Amino acid sequence: MRRPMVAGNWKMHGTRASVAELINGLSRQVLPDDVEIAVFPSSVHLVQVSAELAGKAVVVGAQDCATEPQQGALTGEVAAFQLLDAGCSLVLVGHSERRSLLGDSDEVVTRKFAAAQSCGLTPVLCVGETLAQREAGETLAVVARQLAAVAGKLGVQVFERAVIAYEPVWAIGTGLTASPEQAQEVHAAIRSQLAAQDAELAGRVRILYGGSVKAASAAELFGMPDIDGGLVGGASLNADEFGAICRAAGS
Ligand code: 13P
Repeated sequence: MRRPMVAGNWKMHGTRASVAELINGLSRQVLPDDVEIAVFPSSVHLVQVSAELAGKAVVVGAQDCATEPQQGALTGEVAAFQLLDAGCSLVLVGHSERRSLLGDSDEVVTRKFAAAQSCGLTPVLCVGETLAQREAGETLAVVARQLAAVAGKLGVQVFERAVIAYEPVWAIGTGLTASPEQAQEVHAAIRSQLAAQDAELAGRVRILYGGSVKAASAAELFGMPDIDGGLVGGASLNADEFGAICRAAGS
C-alpha cells in the first residue's frame, strides 16, 4: 500500500511572522497518522519552519535546488546539501512556474533531481501540460516526455526514492481543478510508463495531484486509484483548509 502524502507549496509567500502564525495554526489541526504531511516554505524560511515544526509529524521541503549538489561558487543558488543542513528532507524539482517562468529545461530539472538524491533529499518531480497542450491532445505525450527525461538519463530505479506530482499548468492558481477522471487518466499513464520498466517499483511510487486542490475537491480526487495525495498551493496557506485536505487523504 502506498502511504498518501499531502504537501503544501507555500511558493513565494510569507514573512517570519505569518509563517509562525501558519505553523501555530497547523499545530492546532488534527492531522491523520496515516498520511505523510509536508510543507515547502520559501528558502529564507526553511530554518525557522524546521525549528518550529521540530517534534511534529510534518516534514519540510524546499521549492527548488541548484543543479550542483554541494556548496560552491554559484551566486544566488541553494545547494541540496545546504537544504539538508537546513532541515529539509524533500525538494520540489521542475515545478511549472520554474519551467515556464524561470527557464528550467528538462535537462536542468534532471540535474536538480540527481543533485537532490545525491545528498539524500527526496525529489518531488513536477510534471504537467499547459492548456494549449491539453487542447491539442498532447497531455499524455508532454507528461511522458517530462518523465522520460529523468528516467532515461538517471534510470527508472531513481523513482524508488522520489515522488511525482502531476500538476496541469492550467489548473494551477486558476481555481480550475482537473476532474478526478482527467487526473486519474494521467496518473495511470505515468504509472504504466514506469511499470513498463519495473512493475513493482511503479506500484510503490506515489503520484500526487496538484492544481487548485481545495478541501471541497480533495476527497474525490484522492479517492481515485492512482492519486496518492496532493500538492497544494493557495489552500496550504490556510491552516484549517490545509488540515481538512490532509484529513481527506486519511483512511
Ligand atoms: P494551487 O493549489 O494554488 O493551484 O497551486 C498548485 C501548485 O502549483 C502546487 O505546487
